[in-house]
Amino acid sequence: MSERPREFARLAELSGRRNVSRRSFIKGVIATGASVSAISWFAAPAPAPTQGAARGSVGRLVSLQVNGRTRRVDVLPQETLAMTLRYKLGLIGTKLGCDRAECGACTVMIDGVAHYSCSTLTHRVRGREITTVEGLEGPGGELHPVQSAFIEELGPQCGFCTPGQVMAAAALLRANPDPTREEARRAMSGNLCRCGAYDHYLNGVMRAAGRESTAGRAPAAREVSHA
Ligand code: FES
Ligand code: FES
Repeated sequence: MSERPREFARLAELSGRRNVSRRSFIKGVIATGASVSAISWFAAPAPAPTQGAARGSVGRLVSLQVNGRTRRVDVLPQETLAMTLRYKLGLIGTKLGCDRAECGACTVMIDGVAHYSCSTLTHRVRGREITTVEGLEGPGGELHPVQSAFIEELGPQCGFCTPGQVMAAAALLRANPDPTREEARRAMSGNLCRCGAYDHYLNGVMRAAGRESTAGRAPAAREVSHA
């Protein structure tokens, strides 16, 4: 099964569960990087791993440091990191939206700094530490504090932009653990959200930084059940 049908099957499994709450659904989305947008992708043909390859160009076997592991992979000269991660290493938490450095869905960390992987050539990151959303998982499968905070603040709506938002926020807090709201807003400004959940994500960043955000509302009051 290719990656997109697998995402779709995962979503179908999540949404088909009886008594699933919005919160548990979001947890599934945010932990796996899957999103309901994958449903529309399901109908579209997946781009081939060699998309954009010039005729006659050949891959070269390289070693990449991804999520703390060394990964050996054949990489074409013009291949982007997003393509390598998604279609060769199976790290589909990294989303491809615009594929031209506009939306931020493909954000990963390179040496701890947020980068658009759709606009980064894989050959340029050999020897550097690449972290995808999958790499934020704790040793016991725990969510990263940013992921937990986004869930609390109901950031993910369709979830498509969420992995990129998570990576941008995690990179910000790594560099600046106590940002002002304005600093956080600037740091997140490269990540678009078609669902318009900007304030929710911003609240999540402030919550992860240890600053309570959604003023005066108890968590239970924000729980929405679809049971
Ligand atoms: S997919 Fe990379 S910025 Fe949109
Ligand atoms: S949650 Fe849907 S695009 Fe951001």
